[in-house]
Amino acid sequence: MGTRFLPFSKEIPKEMVPLMGKPLVHYAVEEGVASGINSFIYVISRGKESLENYFCPNLELEYFLQERRKEHLIAEVEKLYQLNHYFIRQPRPLGFGYAVSLTEAVIGNEPFGIILPDDLIIASEPVFQQMLSVYNRYHCSLIAFMKVPFADVSRYGIASGEMLAENLFRIEKLIEKPSPDQAPSNYAIIGRYILTPAIFECLRQAKPGAGGEIQLTDAICLLMKKEPVLGYFFEGQRFDCGTVEGYNHAFLTMILQYEDYRQKAKQILAKT
Ligand code: G1P
Repeated sequence: MGTRFLPFSKEIPKEMVPLMGKPLVHYAVEEGVASGINSFIYVISRGKESLENYFCPNLELEYFLQERRKEHLIAEVEKLYQLNHYFIRQPRPLGFGYAVSLTEAVIGNEPFGIILPDDLIIASEPVFQQMLSVYNRYHCSLIAFMKVPFADVSRYGIASGEMLAENLFRIEKLIEKPSPDQAPSNYAIIGRYILTPAIFECLRQAKPGAGGEIQLTDAICLLMKKEPVLGYFFEGQRFDCGTVEGYNHAFLTMILQYEDYRQKAKQILAKT
């Protein structure tokens, strides 16, 4: 429901929050494209129709821009029209796991990835690409992790397990949003997953967990009983764009990355 971003999220989906002129969902798709993905499935609900529209041409606008020779203004989004976009409308908000379960009809018996647009990651190699390299070696489910302060563990799925390499571990314990004293470690799930299709059966078996919702984390715990599930410490800087603080951090970081904006920002700060 995007409650951390009220009041604007009352009418605008949080995935459509713009960062340097592009909505967060655009960054998520770009990361997928940069990793070789060309089919995207969005689980949406009432009020999120703007996501659907964003990935389709707006003919009126295109005509207008052509007339004025300003097509370059939407060149970036035009690239996205060539991809396959599938939209699934969830009838009720029954949790992240429930939303994932609805994609089975499109995905079928294939491994697939999940990118949560709230978790924006700036990295020299796209995180999803990093994960695909690991997946291509181990051929099992893989989840992105980072270490967080113990005080914050109750905001994440938290895991511990056996280290296989410096940045890779086999998950042995996994718990959704534990209190600091229940947490097996401070290794937190960040919104990137590669899952085998066996997860769908586990989602069918999962009982409502934290917050009365069907949690993906709980289904992954069932999956771990059948197949290995790996945790991967990615390289990159992650911003929690689901909170105002994290969003501001991402915005400032991006401003400082572009030389032009950086100079202007410095001038503004010097005057304040
Ligand atoms: C979801 C997952 C959680 C994960 C988090 C990462 O939680 O359930 O395990 O750590 O994404 O952002 P949400 O942020 O949707 O509450």
